[in-house]
Amino acid sequence: MGRYADEFERSITDPESFWADAARAIDWYREPTVILDSSNPPFYRWFPDGEMNTCDNALDRHVRDGRGDQAALIYDSPVTGTSRRYTYRELLDQVARFAGVLQSLGVTKGDRVVIYLPMIPEAAISMLACARIGAVHSVVFGGFAAPELAARIDDAAPKVVVSASCGIEVNRVVEYKPLLDRAIELATSKPDRCVILQRPQAVALMTEGRDVDWAEAVAGAEPAACVPVKATDPLYILYTSGTTARPKGVIRDNGGHAVALRWTMDNLYDVKPGEVFWAASDVGWVVGHSYIVYAPLLAGCTTVLYEGKPVGTPDAGAFWRVISEYGVTALFTAPTAFRVIKKEDPDGELARKYDLSGMKYLFLAGERLDPETYRWAKDLLGIPVIDHWWQTETGWAIAGDPMGLEALPTKPGSPTVPMPGYDVRILDPDGNEVAPGVTGEIVLRLPLPPGCLPSLWHDDDRFVSSYLSRHDGAYVTGDGGYRDQDGYLYVMGRTDDVINVAGHRLSTGEMEEVLAGHPAVAECAVIGVHDPVKGEVPRGFVTLKAGVGQDPASLSAELVALVRDRIGPVAALRRVDVVEALPKTRSGKILRKTMRGIANGEDEPIPSTIDNLDALSALRPVLISAD
Ligand code: COA
Ligand code: AMP
Repeated sequence: MGRYADEFERSITDPESFWADAARAIDWYREPTVILDSSNPPFYRWFPDGEMNTCDNALDRHVRDGRGDQAALIYDSPVTGTSRRYTYRELLDQVARFAGVLQSLGVTKGDRVVIYLPMIPEAAISMLACARIGAVHSVVFGGFAAPELAARIDDAAPKVVVSASCGIEVNRVVEYKPLLDRAIELATSKPDRCVILQRPQAVALMTEGRDVDWAEAVAGAEPAACVPVKATDPLYILYTSGTTARPKGVIRDNGGHAVALRWTMDNLYDVKPGEVFWAASDVGWVVGHSYIVYAPLLAGCTTVLYEGKPVGTPDAGAFWRVISEYGVTALFTAPTAFRVIKKEDPDGELARKYDLSGMKYLFLAGERLDPETYRWAKDLLGIPVIDHWWQTETGWAIAGDPMGLEALPTKPGSPTVPMPGYDVRILDPDGNEVAPGVTGEIVLRLPLPPGCLPSLWHDDDRFVSSYLSRHDGAYVTGDGGYRDQDGYLYVMGRTDDVINVAGHRLSTGEMEEVLAGHPAVAECAVIGVHDPVKGEVPRGFVTLKAGVGQDPASLSAELVALVRDRIGPVAALRRVDVVEALPKTRSGKILRKTMRGIANGEDEPIPSTIDNLDALSALRPVLISAD
């Protein structure tokens, strides 16, 4: 057996010994004597009697170990024309001071802090400051609109919200503060205080008595020390799209998370302390949490925080500039970023202008890596291009090619093999395992490894009903796919109402709720259709209530604007068609899968249960018509 197979086997047959070994890479105030608490299935807890602090492991530890003068974080912002390096010592100082600010505002262990910030160092500083004092952060992605932010504020009930005057989308200034004010107005749970960073591109109007200026607060702050927390205490809540409008609050604990992420830096990403790791994502997504902030710092690497896009800031050579300028060893991004670069620079001419010789690996995740994009990136860069599959809930890769453990041969279209700790099974609808090559539901047998969600925030019941109730003793990933004869996994897409737009996870159910709320709409359906750059984009279809005389074009524009206003620009719903009828089964279920198949040009069978074949025939040309 190779090293991968040995380690994988050990992680499944003796998970406690496997993860006890991995836990040695973390500094504990109290070493765990119990590795896994399985006394209350389906709830499992890793390292229940261990005590540590995630910020201590990410910053203080490296300063103690002599890494104080090494760059911890490089902020590169083509949209503002700035670049700044923070050494571990400087970052620690800033984090400790901001932790002092939070303490002075009454934040203590277990309190929640919502962070609504663009891609600026203060985002990482706020997250680490929360970790330092045992507070629980909840970062909300900047592309969400006020009602989405309000829903998260209501669920997390934060004492403090941290935000900024604005973000910058290529050359458009997005004012964050009015969105925050509106969200607080909408929310029933009001934060006591808001800390606002004023950026030069926009001035935020402050609310007297509630809002605090970041710079002033930090100038007068006393640095705070690390507060020991239990390994099982929550580090953060990250909301993600489910099948309904209510997002799910995924909880991440402190100990299991630190152990798992630290393990991945050596064994999956093969990046060493002192090397530069760049996750070109956003701190608002799980990739940003795990691989812009926590994992690279836990491993003593230098992380890059990039406030820009793959194209347009200023061109499709932006990634290559960053890689060569900072000596990036490994880049992690979503396939969509490469598709958009390829579209603008198909021959990769811009890449040849830069010295990319220090780059060892390209890691891609967030959506399926299509073989064409894989080959383009591989030919261009001539280095291993590694697809790996994971989700917000797991916090780190379920499947990948473990570069540091044993580089396995790549098969385009497959994220290779399960990572240690993940007992992956493919099931048919009755819960029986299927043969190699047969597609089914991808599930993970419990317990999930450290770092994965122990539950949903204040909602154990929803955790069980969403993930654990369908198949006894297994976690349902929501993805479908198969394994081949060699055990390689193929993840083909979601089996629920979740879609993946430019690597961003969105719920079609949530968009439908917005459309259905319009007074003219009788019925609606939102489906994800194939898009050559974004992977998938949503398309909406509505029927009108009797007697509605509104012009379809103006209604359609209104509905597009409504979704943008309620969910945010990130929803990227650009087209809503007003149609006569939607195809349904005899029991009244809208045939979304059939509609999706036709729109994607697939040879989609018509279900025998269809009630109104004429509606489907009338819809067919609309479904297949391009924009
Ligand atoms: N704040 C405010 N608005 C935001 C935002 C933010 N943080 N992020 C995105 N938006 C807006 C965009 O400006 C765009 O607005 P528009 O409709 O006015 O043009 C809208 O949300 C849709 O954004 P997106 O789907 O990202 O499209 P895009 O055309 O702006 O960019 C890519 C497309 C491919 C360049 C971009 O999505 C990308 O870099 N993705 C890959 C990396 C990544 O972030 N992956 C996440 C997980 S790894
Ligand atoms: P998120 O929670 O935003 O990270 O989205 C997770 C979902 O994205 C998964 O459930 C998959 O549907 C999809 N996904 C992520 N990475 C991959 C991948 N490498 N291959 C296929 N699908 C992926």
